[in-house]
Amino acid sequence: MADVSVAPSTAPSDEGGALLSLRAVEKHFGDLHVLRHVDLTIARGEVVVVIGPSGSGKSTLCRTINRLETIDSGTITIAGRELPEEGRDLARLRAQVGMVFQSFNLFAHKTVLENVTLGPIKAKGVKRAAAKERAMELLDRVGVANQAHKLPAQLSGGQQQRVAIARALAMDPELILFDEPTSALDPEMINEVLDVMVGLARDGMTMLVVTHEMGFARRAADRVVFMDAGEIVEESDPETFFTAPRSDRAKDFLSKILPH
Ligand SMILES: Nc1ncnc2c1ncn2[C@@H]1O[C@H](COP(=O)(O)OP(=O)(O)O)[C@@H](O)[C@H]1O
Ligand SMILES: [Mg+2]
Repeated sequence: MADVSVAPSTAPSDEGGALLSLRAVEKHFGDLHVLRHVDLTIARGEVVVVIGPSGSGKSTLCRTINRLETIDSGTITIAGRELPEEGRDLARLRAQVGMVFQSFNLFAHKTVLENVTLGPIKAKGVKRAAAKERAMELLDRVGVANQAHKLPAQLSGGQQQRVAIARALAMDPELILFDEPTSALDPEMINEVLDVMVGLARDGMTMLVVTHEMGFARRAADRVVFMDAGEIVEESDPETFFTAPRSDRAKDFLSKILPH
């Protein structure tokens, strides 16, 4: 795989290196209190793994950060700027924050190459030839350059998810959110995706990763955040979290997911 730099730009200044900051964030879906007073800060270049039971609010957390969901109260800032409500500022924010979903979400009727060039051409005004060149570099980086002219359905799940990562990178995001990126994959394809993510982490990409893959957390995460019932219950380095969780809720959760 080619060595293509994906390090984010460090242009805007921000408080103490915090790239992402959530303060006292509250979110309800009707009567359901889905995010409870969430405080979370991610520094530039930091890799944070979010772990927790199904329904604890992990996806909602990701979706509020790129404003696919609104919040009821609190603040979310990226590089010191509060999330815009709508319009051009929101489009710019979306370009700053990449998202990789469990279900890949590639455009089914566009080729792999078109999936990667579309955003830069439409949202950033990049010239077609330049967008193609960069897309091919990124597809090479994630190991699927030889699939560029196929449709997503002709690729394996692991290959499709690597295309989705290349698509996110093509927008030169400052931060990438990964929401259970390997949960829909056959077991033998999980590592090819995790290896790409570990590479990004080592290159200094700022990442928030919802995953239960402890191997990834141990190899790449600076911090593990454990969520339960909409709350951040504890945060620590991966080794401490997996070997000596403090809260009963984390102990209980780990006893269910760890091999016995
Ligand atoms: N759009 C929505 N409308 C109503 N309830 C929702 C919506 N999205 C998620 N929920 C509920 O919010 C809770 C948290 O969901 P989610 O953030 O998807 O959790 P997780 O990703 O940790 O499994 C769940 O109870 C889920 O059913
Ligand atoms: Mg989820």
